[in-house]
Amino acid sequence: MREAQPATIYLKDYEPPAYRIEQTQLHFALHEDYALVTATLSIARTAGAPETQALVLHGQALKLESIQLDGNTLGEGTYVIDEASLTLEAVPGEFELRTVVRIEPQNNTSLEGLYKSRTMFCTQCEAEGFRKITYFLDRPDVMSIYTVTVEADAARYPVLLSNGNCVATEALASGRHSATWHDPFPKPAYLFALVAGDLSVVEDSFTTCSGREVDLKIFVEPKDLDKCDHAMDSLKRSMRWDEETFGREYDLDIFNIVAVDDFNMGAMENKSLNIFNTSCVLASPDTTTDAGYQRVESIVAHEYFHNWSGNRVTCRDWFQLSLKEGFTVFRDAEFSSDMGSRTVKRVEDVTVLRTSQFAEDAGPMAHPVRPDSFIEISNFYTVTVYEKGAEVVRMIHTLLGAESFRRGSDLYFQRHDGQAVTCEDFVLAMEDASGVDLGLFRRWYSQAGTPEVSASGVYDEEAQTYTLTVAQRTPPTPGQTDKQPVVIPLAMGLLGDAGNLPLRLEGELPDTETSDNTHRVLTVDSAEQRFVFTGVNEAPVPSLLRGFSAPVRLDYPYTRKDLQALISHDADGFVRWDASQQLAVQVIMDVQAQLDAGSEPDVDPLLIDSVAAVIADTSLDPAMVAMMVTLPGENYLAELASHTGQADVDGIHAARDSVREALASALSEQWQSLFGRLHSVEPYQASGPEIARRSLCNAALGYLSADSVDGVELALAQYHGANNMTDRLAGLQAVAYFGNDVQRDAALADCFDKWHHEALVVNQWLQLQAMLPLEDALSRVQALMAHDAFDLRNPNKVRAVIGAFASGNPVNFHRRDGAGYRFLREQVAVLDGMNPQIASRLLGPLTKWRNYQGRGDMMRAELEELAAVSGLSPDVFEVVSRSLA
Ligand code: ARG
Ligand code: ZN
Repeated sequence: MREAQPATIYLKDYEPPAYRIEQTQLHFALHEDYALVTATLSIARTAGAPETQALVLHGQALKLESIQLDGNTLGEGTYVIDEASLTLEAVPGEFELRTVVRIEPQNNTSLEGLYKSRTMFCTQCEAEGFRKITYFLDRPDVMSIYTVTVEADAARYPVLLSNGNCVATEALASGRHSATWHDPFPKPAYLFALVAGDLSVVEDSFTTCSGREVDLKIFVEPKDLDKCDHAMDSLKRSMRWDEETFGREYDLDIFNIVAVDDFNMGAMENKSLNIFNTSCVLASPDTTTDAGYQRVESIVAHEYFHNWSGNRVTCRDWFQLSLKEGFTVFRDAEFSSDMGSRTVKRVEDVTVLRTSQFAEDAGPMAHPVRPDSFIEISNFYTVTVYEKGAEVVRMIHTLLGAESFRRGSDLYFQRHDGQAVTCEDFVLAMEDASGVDLGLFRRWYSQAGTPEVSASGVYDEEAQTYTLTVAQRTPPTPGQTDKQPVVIPLAMGLLGDAGNLPLRLEGELPDTETSDNTHRVLTVDSAEQRFVFTGVNEAPVPSLLRGFSAPVRLDYPYTRKDLQALISHDADGFVRWDASQQLAVQVIMDVQAQLDAGSEPDVDPLLIDSVAAVIADTSLDPAMVAMMVTLPGENYLAELASHTGQADVDGIHAARDSVREALASALSEQWQSLFGRLHSVEPYQASGPEIARRSLCNAALGYLSADSVDGVELALAQYHGANNMTDRLAGLQAVAYFGNDVQRDAALADCFDKWHHEALVVNQWLQLQAMLPLEDALSRVQALMAHDAFDLRNPNKVRAVIGAFASGNPVNFHRRDGAGYRFLREQVAVLDGMNPQIASRLLGPLTKWRNYQGRGDMMRAELEELAAVSGLSPDVFEVVSRSLA
């Protein structure tokens, strides 16, 4: 039971380490009911640190068996152990410390440190898991060279892996064996990894730009051997891309990936031994949707890219997490854009940002990209640190231009190779290489909250000028009441009747260049600014924030006709999509107001015309059409509503459904012909054009099944006839949403019957059901939790059922009687005793209690109930206490 409140750690209190650990030798003796970890550390006091400085090693849930300093056993009383540390009051300037600790991986349900996933041993050390393995300076600015011996039963654990190169193997007595690994690159403890198991392997190789042969291996359970090709292919493409785009070559002769079933996050970039959640590495046509294929590609790339942006150059402290995560998300997004469609990738990313990150930035957990304080760093692996952090890097890219940005990244890697550095070091390298002053731009790192940009335009026909006025403000966030203007790169154009107009700002020389003068990036850096365009010979519609050039909320008083013009012929694909969403939002809000007033919904025919025109536009990528005809999600609509007031979840749901029905029935012929034209039973290919085709075909199927029983029959036929998971799941989903009870239950039962042996399919089956907007959804969810296929210790299953219900089934989570909230609170309380990271993450939806009309008190009451639980983890404590503050 926790007596004192867990402590808050502040960036301003950072101090460099007083001791370094130059060499780290580890010996793991793995047994079924315990493991012994022997650590031999060469420790030296840092120059300048006082001789009297105590050595305080981190350590948690360790049982110390013995401790020696320079070969002499230390007796009790010469050191102090508490629940988080081992302290030696007086130590020499240089010495060797040897500890033996006993741990229990088989009982480690937190999935942090050394634990068991099914039959294998594996590790997850980021951020602070290494301290659950041995006593150490578990902080990223302490970098050490590791030599690791893993010893285990040879029959159960034929494969023994750690970082770097395998330098020795040995057969031992009583059927045991060992392998010794040496990693020549100094690294922080969070990049340490170990795996021991009975694994099968897929092998390939890659020749780097300087001619080094790298052995590539993906280790999986034997049953998953046929699901590794896509990850391997993605890995090779990532390695080539990073050479070509960022000049980054791989630096060892070996690169391993291991797939594990029980994993808190997506994957982990441990040096040369990446460990992946199976859901983020395995792919096969029968088990993985198109979105799944794309996720595998981007996560394999993300973890690989960390080898430079994260491992070779790492973070000084955890406040700098976005240094590696924001930059690496930017890098993987660029990779995905180059592999597929840039605009489609951008739309997907912006949707996540606007739905989740804007909500985070507007709520009680709001924090800057570089947080100032935390209680538990695991709580800061957030959409703000990752996705907004990537947007900040993207803005630097926009402000500097591609070439200068590349010079900046080269300088950053060269200057800081082998170091643990800060976000400021990154910005300095970018400035030094480009000559661009990023002085005020730095506010993006320190200031939380989403800037609100309001723009308005005036056309002066006589003067042939168009004046764009842009104002910005950032609303206060907890702990940050005064906000300063930020530097916003505003990419834009002006749309005339026949297309985009040439742009010339007042005072500029008449344009002489031949290149594209219909597009430019304005720099907005004060509270209010005016931009006067001259030589404008017709009243334009401004095309603003092209490509979503800054993570802001943009407000411009577009008429529906303006939006229609942007949708049909702006030059920027992102703006076209965004205009289609804005139009849909306006129409859904109209309908919501009509339903509220008790009148019949009346869907603006302009929306229907516009969707019809998009369907008919053969110049558009089918994937873009699919995104443009898909209505904004309920969570996004709720986020928008709570920005100006409070969200009415039921009203949003009903209005969105009714607009969807209107589109379904008004355009039923178009959906039919689209489906007829696009439906295919050719062998599955995860290629861009095929993914695009399926996305539009399945969007059409969704409308058809929303519209009629014939549509549901079509979905049922697709479910049964599909030769791939994308089409099968789309069919099943359409039947489950729009079919009758008999059809739904039969199809769901059939799916489990056929696929119960594939865990990744079962998870999707669970998730689909948890999100069904049916009246009995909560009891269905409870039944799923009692199902054999469910396991509370497996994070993928917890996310698929509890997580999907709380964040993907708004009408049921926000049930009027509060049962959804109570359910979540009870699950969080149970999970907190097993896996605090997962418990804390699941709480997200409850923290938004201020956003919901007529629900806030009930939601807050559940948080208060949790706050009263004794022995809460620091993870859950931090989220609960911040939400209630
Ligand atoms: N660095 C990993 C990634 O971005 C994430 C690991 C996070 N782990 C955690 N326990 N929060 O791919
Ligand atoms: Zn990462």
